[in-house]
Amino acid sequence: MQKKFYVNFLTRIRGKGNLGKVYSFGQGLAGKIIPGFDYDSSKRMLSIEYLKAIEAISRGLKLPKYEGLSDLFNFKNFKKMPVLLMRDLGSKSLDNLFGEEFDLAMESRKSQLELAKKKGVCIYDPFLSNSVWVPEENQTYFVDPYHWSFLDIPNSKKSQSIPIFNFEDERFSEFEF
Ligand SMILES: Nc1ncnc2c1ncn2[C@@H]1O[C@H](COP(=O)(O)OP(=O)(O)OP(=O)(O)O)[C@@H](O)[C@H]1O
Ligand SMILES: [Mg+2]
Repeated sequence: MQKKFYVNFLTRIRGKGNLGKVYSFGQGLAGKIIPGFDYDSSKRMLSIEYLKAIEAISRGLKLPKYEGLSDLFNFKNFKKMPVLLMRDLGSKSLDNLFGEEFDLAMESRKSQLELAKKKGVCIYDPFLSNSVWVPEENQTYFVDPYHWSFLDIPNSKKSQSIPIFNFEDERFSEFEF
């Protein structure tokens, strides 16, 4: 039987970005929703994110293990919405770290960025909020691959609306590798 997911006013929020909201459901599971969009649009966006995550993981990059899409009932607005389920990485997003822990997390992130470059994965928005440190593993994970592209995959296969960014693109040159 498929497990039902719901959020109420007590559900813990792991993080909030521009469009998405990530909840922690306990037992190591997190789920991302996109509250500002209708059911079909947010399902499309989360599917793209899911496909890109799977592709990046297959190239050796560290992202949370994704369980796929499900439905979630939101008791805050009484709406059913699509939710992208994934491993809960904890609360140590890099924009909240400092000191020695931040340095360790950044070192791990740097090697992930180098690997991404080697594997043709273009990380268009490498904000610190999209990296999460998991101290037990000495590892920084990436989240939020919605905007990523892959040099060897025609973009239309993954999404109709996202422009291709490659390492020669001038928007890319400002990022550190
Ligand atoms: N699997 C996870 N485990 C723990 N925390 C997470 C996880 N996924 C995301 N987060 C946290 O939640 C925050 C928001 O998630 P995310 O970055 O996916 O949303 P967003 O930036 O709004 O996405 P989008 O760019 O698609 O609008 C992240 O910055 C991160 O801190
Ligand atoms: Mg984000």
